[in-house]
Amino acid sequence: MVTVVCGGFFGDEGKGKVAGYLGLRGGYAAAIRTGSVNAGHTVVYGGRIWRLRIVPSAFVRRGVRLYIARGSLVKVDILLNEISETVVFDRICVDRYAGVIEERHVEAEKRDSVLKGIGSTFQGVGAAMAERVLRRLRLAWEFRELERFLCDSTWEILDMVDKGLGVIVEGTQGLYLSLYHGTYPYVTSRDVSASGILSEVGLGPKHVSDVIVVFKSYVTRVGEGPLEGELGREEIERLGLVERGTVTGRLRRVAPFNMELAKRAVRINSATQVAITKIDALFREARGVREWDKLPINAKRFIESIEEYLGVPITLISTGEDLEDMIDLRRDKGISI
Ligand code: IMP
Ligand code: MG
Repeated sequence: MVTVVCGGFFGDEGKGKVAGYLGLRGGYAAAIRTGSVNAGHTVVYGGRIWRLRIVPSAFVRRGVRLYIARGSLVKVDILLNEISETVVFDRICVDRYAGVIEERHVEAEKRDSVLKGIGSTFQGVGAAMAERVLRRLRLAWEFRELERFLCDSTWEILDMVDKGLGVIVEGTQGLYLSLYHGTYPYVTSRDVSASGILSEVGLGPKHVSDVIVVFKSYVTRVGEGPLEGELGREEIERLGLVERGTVTGRLRRVAPFNMELAKRAVRINSATQVAITKIDALFREARGVREWDKLPINAKRFIESIEEYLGVPITLISTGEDLEDMIDLRRDKGISI
């Protein structure tokens, strides 16, 4: 049973929260992270906070085996730091063929005027990816520091899938930052659609049982590029929607929830479920609520109108930072866990 978690807007929808919640609730033997260290996934649980850039967010449950995908790009220092912060030495494995970002990639990006115009996070991801395409990037097996973590993640994941075990595939960014499906050239250096994510792992479309597309209850974007209905700074402050990027600390641009973008994201990703996060930012009384019946009526109406328009069940509704602040409607809506 494979569940893909991917972003439906411009990243920062709360994929970390959703993947972390899925891991915590159980039913999954493994989680595999795709993408790279330009992404920041925040996980809050039991009074602690982790800002992860490469370790899978589902690490919170001890029994979950963790993988870094073959198509991903790691940075050795960031990876090793996160492994010690999350204390997952004995259950994380990095695919031998994962790419490695080196300092010179970061330096090259900082000098790149095109990337400046795009508002890149300058983590060296695009520069390393370009080298991979040109077949001169060094891979994980060439780094002694990574030796003890190496494996064939694809083979291990396929074995788990064959045995009927649950696997979470964690995507990064959001559909409109996809190299192919996003607002080019204001995009990241990979395809972050569900299909792109699966290709990084080595899973085929028929291995997948569920695709959960995550939307925040409003749209944010860091960096440049179009953002329909963008709100002014004062308006953002008045509404209490001020956010900063996890990796760069930059202020995020904000716009209201966009039904058209959401519809396209649901179609391209072949969503079977939708998760809506930060509903408490729009409806304060929703904060920390864990049952549908206890949501304020306006929040219920907002969610129902999105569900009706998208034609896909909204199964997870996040009402706060902590992983436990979640309304889980999967059983109610007939989804087996
Ligand atoms: P790059 O992939 O770091 O070069 O950034 C390209 C564009 O994608 C910039 O606008 C970044 O702000 C944006 N971006 C990259 N990663 C993330 C992310 O994880 N969340 C939100 N935006 C991102
Ligand atoms: Mg983020």
